Amino acid sequence: MINFPLNTVILESVDSTNSYLKRIIKEDGLTHGMAVMAKSQSAGRGRLGRSWLSNSNTLCMSIAVENKHSSGVTLLAALAVLEGLKSFCGSNLQVKWPNDILAGNKKLCGILCERVDAYTVIGIGVNVNDESFHPEIANKATSMYLLNGKKYDVKEVFEAIKLSFEKVFEKYNFTFTKDAKELYESLCINFGKTVTTDKLRGTAMGIDQSGALVVKTESGLCTVSSGEVAVHGIY
Ligand code: BTN
Repeated sequence: MINFPLNTVILESVDSTNSYLKRIIKEDGLTHGMAVMAKSQSAGRGRLGRSWLSNSNTLCMSIAVENKHSSGVTLLAALAVLEGLKSFCGSNLQVKWPNDILAGNKKLCGILCERVDAYTVIGIGVNVNDESFHPEIANKATSMYLLNGKKYDVKEVFEAIKLSFEKVFEKYNFTFTKDAKELYESLCINFGKTVTTDKLRGTAMGIDQSGALVVKTESGLCTVSSGEVAVHGIY
């Protein structure tokens, strides 16, 4: 189990902060938890094999935590990031399953969790100072600047999220407990809404203790444990 506080590394540039930590883990260089932030990423990666574009307006960071079972860490990570962003953006933030952080129904932050040996690498991309977005994503993305009309020190946001991780992971002992699940459910935008995946369509009813989304379809209750879930009226 890792010790807190996390070791911290700030890089000028890197391919991807997730790839950076994965290399360190593979080279056996990681003995405690580690947090890394990069001022620029040349090959940022998103969920489901997508690329993640980043610039100086974006916070790119990753945290590696040692844990035997990764189950639930993805959702615990969403709780930690949301809590860290609250101090800048207020308490109207929500989670879109599994771990997008939304403000006003638009994506403020994305999280990519990857498993390497006994570690989970949690990569976090926050739209901090972006003044606009590419037309393709403009109707579904937002930034802290667009929300609050002011610019932020990206490193300050990094520090706040890192601290929040330490608190949340220590509080729940790296486990998606019943309390963590209840908190997650109270923040999750999916519930009661029509959701679609490539395999099903129905109403999101809740999540189970493993963190899977429970959906009521015409043929009964189904669980979705990975992949893309579109929420009707959001994205
Ligand atoms: C998503 O698809 O929503 C997840 C995006 C995660 C992006 C972050 S930026 C820092 C870290 N390094 C990466 O290559 N990806 C994650």
